[in-house]
Amino acid sequence: MPKVCVVGSSNTDLLTKVKRLPKLGETLIGQNFHIGFGGKGGNQAIMAAKLKSNVTMVTKLGKDIFGNETLKNYKDNGINTNFVYFCENSSGVAPIFVDEDGNNFIVIVPGANWELKPDDIIAAKNEIENSDCLVCQLEIPLETTFEALKIARDAGVTTIFNPAPARDIPDDIYKITDIIIPNEVEASYLTGIEIKSVDDAKKACKVLLDKKCRSVIITLGKLGSVVADNINIIHIKPIKVKAIDTTGAGDAFIGSFAHYYGVTSSIEKSAEFANVAASLSVCRSGTQTSFPSLKDILLKEEK
Ligand code: RIB
Repeated sequence: MPKVCVVGSSNTDLLTKVKRLPKLGETLIGQNFHIGFGGKGGNQAIMAAKLKSNVTMVTKLGKDIFGNETLKNYKDNGINTNFVYFCENSSGVAPIFVDEDGNNFIVIVPGANWELKPDDIIAAKNEIENSDCLVCQLEIPLETTFEALKIARDAGVTTIFNPAPARDIPDDIYKITDIIIPNEVEASYLTGIEIKSVDDAKKACKVLLDKKCRSVIITLGKLGSVVADNINIIHIKPIKVKAIDTTGAGDAFIGSFAHYYGVTSSIEKSAEFANVAASLSVCRSGTQTSFPSLKDILLKEEK
């Protein structure tokens, strides 16, 4: 099975279902509330582990109940936690509102995630160097993500970078990225191209490739995704489903992509596989609780 190292955030998601998202200054009555495990890094690690990749999580937690429960969750899912660090800051949390159409509204409070420093990554250098791929996002300090990508690139380990949430990043980060996977909002932010169609996404792919990452996948929700390198650009068609909660769908895509890329070394096949995983995840509530098993994905692919 592939060896996947994830360097990134862990949050506790505080999920509220509402009929519609509130307006500024408005008080609404919610439908229900639940607490679950989240954080883009944690979600991507759990998705890959559910598919039986050999996963190491490099993250930082607070010494509080959320931190202890998060550590237990990683262990329960068979994840290597040798590089799960603790600090005095509180664990990351994410209040999330989900409306009737499955759209969400997320605020993250990074807490301990912001304390994951380049030195913590240097301590995990051997682990990163001995992985098949490294997966990073942007819910930890930029210099920490950069350090991890650099260690992996120098060791010839495939680097998968999910630039989420969108923020300004230096051009050098593209040069050490093998596969960049933004959604349409993040790709618009990074390229300045407003993405409303598959053709817009194809244009944005070209801009990102010009920045010297090797491949680009832009996920487009209801429009599927676009996969590009310097030779081909292909559109992967969406799978029609009734979405009830899109929270974590992008993470289901990335975690399952990393797993399947480790199995097949094919970007196109892995993006198709990840497309199925993400489409299944939006049909269930919650973040990690919505992630499909390998059996679910294979059954859906057969249909
Ligand atoms: O991508 C979804 C995730 O974003 C949630 O789990 C939340 O914690 C935020 O990190």
